[in-house]
Amino acid sequence: MAKAKNEKWDVVVIGAGPAGYVAAIRCAQLGFKTLCIDEWIDHAGDSSLGGTCLNVGCIPSKALLESSHLYQLARSDFEHHGIAMSSLDINVEAMLARKDKVVSDLTDGIRTLFKANGVSELHGRAKITALDTVVISDRKTRKKIKKVKAKNIIIATGSSPIRLQQAMIQDDYIIDSAAALELDKVPQRLGIVGAGAIGLELGSVWSRLGSEVVLLEAMKDFLPLTDRKLSNIAKRSLMKQGLDIQLNSRMIEARVKNNKVHVVYEDRNGEHKEVFDKLVIAVGRKPNSDRLFGEELGIETDERHTIMVNKKCQTSVPHIYAIGDVVRGPMLAHKGSEEGIMVAENIAGNNHAEVDYDLVPYVIYTHPEIAWVGKTEEECKNAGIKTNVGSFPFAASGRARAMAEIEGQVKIIADAETDRVLGVHIFSAQASELIAQAVLMMEMQATAEDMALTMFAHPTMSESMHEAALSVHGQAIHIKN
Ligand code: FAD
Ligand code: NAI
Repeated sequence: MAKAKNEKWDVVVIGAGPAGYVAAIRCAQLGFKTLCIDEWIDHAGDSSLGGTCLNVGCIPSKALLESSHLYQLARSDFEHHGIAMSSLDINVEAMLARKDKVVSDLTDGIRTLFKANGVSELHGRAKITALDTVVISDRKTRKKIKKVKAKNIIIATGSSPIRLQQAMIQDDYIIDSAAALELDKVPQRLGIVGAGAIGLELGSVWSRLGSEVVLLEAMKDFLPLTDRKLSNIAKRSLMKQGLDIQLNSRMIEARVKNNKVHVVYEDRNGEHKEVFDKLVIAVGRKPNSDRLFGEELGIETDERHTIMVNKKCQTSVPHIYAIGDVVRGPMLAHKGSEEGIMVAENIAGNNHAEVDYDLVPYVIYTHPEIAWVGKTEEECKNAGIKTNVGSFPFAASGRARAMAEIEGQVKIIADAETDRVLGVHIFSAQASELIAQAVLMMEMQATAEDMALTMFAHPTMSESMHEAALSVHGQAIHIKN
């Protein structure tokens, strides 16, 4: 790794995940002498940039989702297209190797971007020891590598999986999401605690490859942040695919006996026992702020270790910023990256830069995908906002039929007085791509009518967005209004 040469920096960024590396690049683009420090080590023991997202999060999970989806299509859908195969097999080792290659290409790409933009990098664990001083040590030996001075510090140290006392991590059996991306063979029975984003995505991967997957979820509602109607449709669809989603289920204990994980959980009907080959713990993540600074520096955190920041991501010390998973808001890569850009611009004096937290898009990459932005109908109702709602089923879309992707629908919620779009909720193939249209529309403060008056290419999945917008005013063409 290129050694950082200079001891005095305009900006020191701690963490090279999607929040930190984006912040570092924009700082360097704005002319600041920028150092980015990161401690991540890959399988081979080498430093790897990109944080959770690139190494054990967004990217490897999407690589495996893609491979497992193709396998699923080959197994059950190709026949309908008239494609016959005499045999079909899975090579998990090759699947994991492809995933690793996707990851290393992208993490190496960040190193290239750092070089191209003049960001210096340093491998090691950073600690803020004074308001302008960061000490970097070896992650394993704790030996001090270097001390640097900084005019501005950006903390982007991310998050780590939350552990469960009743089911402590135990190599090969009770595992976290990173280990669930590395299983070298398909488990016959896979238990997952938590039916959130990770549980549903990794559950989909292994279920498509042949595992019997059971998800134990403590909450009574499925995906409580999403639109009720779409979350019900999504739950039914995922259950039909083979994901056994048990809501209202509280984990009592998990023990490893005779190479199996024995689980006891409780729901409304009392206690139940399950036996799994592996159990994945996916019950959320906690901010990485421990041992990063002493109390004497006055950087405030809350009881969940979240670093407290204002709208501009300034901590209680104005020249020390914090962004990404380590601060409030959804733990999403794109949210952290946007905060990184905002902070860089603000350091440069461009005070207009801000993040619109009402317009963060959410996507869960099951198949079909679940995507949304803005308010749900219930939120509008609770806030006393009168709405007009339009929706369109993909079963009525020509492109969806041609693609054999007729499941799901688009729902658009518009303010009844102003017609401004307040929320868009989609359950469909390619929902992750479709939702971007909604974000853009809402960013531009568009009305449902603006969207209805826009021309969309035929035949596309996007036409369903158009039809849903038309349906807000009872003018959809391809369904009965
Ligand atoms: P991180 O990516 O966690 O990066 C923090 C970096 O800081 C790490 O490299 C860490 O090693 C380093 N670090 C920490 N402490 C120190 C220290 N003291 N000194 C030096 N370095 C330090 N989000 C999405 O938006 N879309 C998805 O599809 C998605 N899929 C996911 C799938 C999985 C399985 C998981 C686990 C997460 C997923 N996420 C997804 C969430 C996403 O990964 C995080 O929101 C994102 O990585 C947060 O970015 P960050 O830069 O804040 O932190
Ligand atoms: P999550 O918050 O999405 O889901 C955790 C689930 O576990 C919740 O439904 C919660 O009710 C449940 N839970 C908590 N304690 C429990 C217990 N004791 N027993 C049973 N269930 C319990 O967190 P997850 O899935 O771990 O993901 C972590 C973060 O990573 C999320 O904030 C998410 O935003 C991000 N992520 C994003 C993805 C995406 O954008 N596609 C994909 C994967 C992760």
